[in-house]
Amino acid sequence: MLKSPTDPRWLPCALEGLDGLLVDHAHCEKKAAATALSLVGAYPERERLVRQLSALAIEELRHFRAVLDQLQARRLGLSRDRGDPYAKQLMQHVRSSGEARLMDRLLVGGLIEARSHERLTLLAGGIEDPALAAFYASLARAEKGHARLFVELAEGYGGEGPVGERLDELARHEAEIVAGLPLEPRIH
Ligand SMILES: [Fe+2]
Ligand SMILES: [Fe+2]
Repeated sequence: MLKSPTDPRWLPCALEGLDGLLVDHAHCEKKAAATALSLVGAYPERERLVRQLSALAIEELRHFRAVLDQLQARRLGLSRDRGDPYAKQLMQHVRSSGEARLMDRLLVGGLIEARSHERLTLLAGGIEDPALAAFYASLARAEKGHARLFVELAEGYGGEGPVGERLDELARHEAEIVAGLPLEPRIH
């Protein structure tokens, strides 16, 4: 799904700033739950979306709590959310109304999950603490399933042809956005 791999300098930067990365990661999981619920709120008449994204919200909130446990184990607190320029820039490509908006919101959701999957997999391979590495490996698997879920929902509502083309376009924007962001110990 992604059009570019993560810069190889990202992993050493993330490992160097692991404490800050964990805090950022907690916020990402919280925002994933909030985004799923916001889609449920925006499209209450779409039965499949409501069922699947409310289930997703629960799972993301579980991830949030699991990351909180990791923070607590390291005696770290949850500081203020620094915001998310990556997601904000991606949302600027979401069309403004109707079915196009629904499709774009779902596909952007899928791309964020796909990038999270890629980066959590890198963390799983790079973190020395075996328990934390295993934690990241299990979360990475979950994010892969989430990326698929969003794309399948988009296909269900949009028909497969135009979804593939639009996903390609949005994925190209995603790659440009990632390339333009500073390298930091953050998930995105
Ligand atoms: Fe998650
Ligand atoms: Fe996710």
